[in-house]
Amino acid sequence: MGTVLAVVSQKGGVGKTTTAINLACALARRGRKTLLVDVDPQGSVRHGIGLAENSETAGLADVLAGHRELQDVVLPTPLPWLRVLLAGSVSDSAEHETYQAQIAESPKLGELFDRARSRGYVVVVDTPPGLGAVTRRVLAASQHVIVPLQSEPLALQTTTQILRAIKNATDANPSLVFEGILLTMIEEGNAVSQRVASYVREQLPPELVFEMAVPRTMASIDAFAAGQPVVLRSPDDLAAQAYVKLAELLDPKLA
Ligand SMILES: Nc1ncnc2c1ncn2[C@@H]1O[C@H](COP(=O)(O)OP(=O)(O)O)[C@@H](O)[C@H]1O
Ligand SMILES: [Mg+2]
Repeated sequence: MGTVLAVVSQKGGVGKTTTAINLACALARRGRKTLLVDVDPQGSVRHGIGLAENSETAGLADVLAGHRELQDVVLPTPLPWLRVLLAGSVSDSAEHETYQAQIAESPKLGELFDRARSRGYVVVVDTPPGLGAVTRRVLAASQHVIVPLQSEPLALQTTTQILRAIKNATDANPSLVFEGILLTMIEEGNAVSQRVASYVREQLPPELVFEMAVPRTMASIDAFAAGQPVVLRSPDDLAAQAYVKLAELLDPKLA
């Protein structure tokens, strides 16, 4: 049986998509059969997973709407053990409400995850920013959740919110385990960024914060510009290595 791991945060721009993509790649590299699912209607996974520009863009939204069959839109990637389900046509449209309502009101997303689990997939889910109906649905159907936290001033203030929301989600879904907070975009040589990271570690119980942290690196920025995961493009980069370590740590827990 596979399992579902959601990457969530109350904020945008904190490294959710980067984390979902690189963790999925690192797990697949370890030989885990992995399915990366983009539930964010913005559809950013499509631009970061290294697909050819002219490849299929249909995905989750099209399956939920009944326009496509799942098996036709689960795409191969450059890695043999990694497949991807993009957000789909919703990401080409400015109108996301129908999609959101579909996810919130129908059991289809949970059914889709269950299908993937029964085939032994580790499903890594990229979510929209915030803790709205879509993310709550994802958490109701997940077994693991991680929270990227960007190392910036005020990081801790907003963390209380997310921890409370995660607590609500784990209360409502007893099979959901909060695996931890991943510090992201720590800037070497930036005193504020370093101080925030230390402060977060001092203030939160150690078991809530992963030991490895993701530095802000040039290789990550280059990989983003090239539309490729940094773990594949620059495996020696420190951000890439942090994701590989995260995959190593999580792998045995993703039963
Ligand atoms: N470790 C990193 N080093 C440098 N840039 C990063 C790093 N992680 C993420 N970024 C960049 O930060 C921006 C936001 O990241 P993203 O993963 O899209 O966040 P979210 O999905 O939470 O909105 C992107 O431009 C991404 O390339
Ligand atoms: Mg994103």
